[in-house]
Amino acid sequence: MAAMSTLLSLLDAFDELPQARALRELTYRGLGDAVVDVGCGGGRAVGELVARGVAAIGVDLHPGMVEAAAERWPGGEFRVGDATALPLADGSVTGYRADKVLHAVAEPGRAVAEARRVLAPNGRAVLLGQDWDTWVIESGDPARTRALIRARAERVAHPLVARRYRNLLLDNGFADVTAEVHTIVWTDGTCLPVLADLAGEGAWLDEQIARARADRLFLALPIIVATGTRT
Ligand SMILES: C[S@@+](CC[C@H](N)C(=O)[O-])C[C@H]1O[C@@H](n2cnc3c(N)ncnc32)[C@H](O)[C@@H]1O
Repeated sequence: MAAMSTLLSLLDAFDELPQARALRELTYRGLGDAVVDVGCGGGRAVGELVARGVAAIGVDLHPGMVEAAAERWPGGEFRVGDATALPLADGSVTGYRADKVLHAVAEPGRAVAEARRVLAPNGRAVLLGQDWDTWVIESGDPARTRALIRARAERVAHPLVARRYRNLLLDNGFADVTAEVHTIVWTDGTCLPVLADLAGEGAWLDEQIARARADRLFLALPIIVATGTRT
């Protein structure tokens, strides 16, 4: 399936950045020894948690993604399921992660209520993802850049959900809620597939390709991270 392999290669380009690795590491803290990674995609977080001795389960809506994850990370457990109806018993996990996921879920609030259901008391949830309206890109055509960002945001169900993560946790009864922003700064050609996904072929992308050749690329993506404790 072409769309899925494109998504996996975009995720790989991002997730292999040292800054993205460091951010993931941060999100693994305090999740305890039984963790669900919801919208697990290619399964990287599950594989990394298992390598740290955590019983981690990845859940994804798309069977093809679950298959790809199981192939890539054979030590992990992966299940097909919806973020709003997880295939897990009440109170069965100590940690819940949803990384770059809630923007794609039809009802993000129901997904956070579901996080509360599957977490044991004192369990910890972490939500992270980009705000799709906030890409910082150096370009000779700022107006076109703005239009491209708008159009890309319109392709996702909830482009602004990351700025609601804190409120979603509070509204669903989580305590000790925190919210932070960690900005990924990307200045080499490995971000070109992401810019190609944003813009498609044409003069705007050609300028970015030329910038990559001249070492003059600048893309910054603020990633919003919110955590909360299940009371
Ligand atoms: C952008 S990817 C992120 C994957 C992974 N969390 C990562 O950080 O690399 C979003 C994933 O969420 C999954 N997804 C979308 N809607 C979902 C839903 N309602 N329930 C569970 N997974 C969902 C998609 O299939 C996709 O694998």
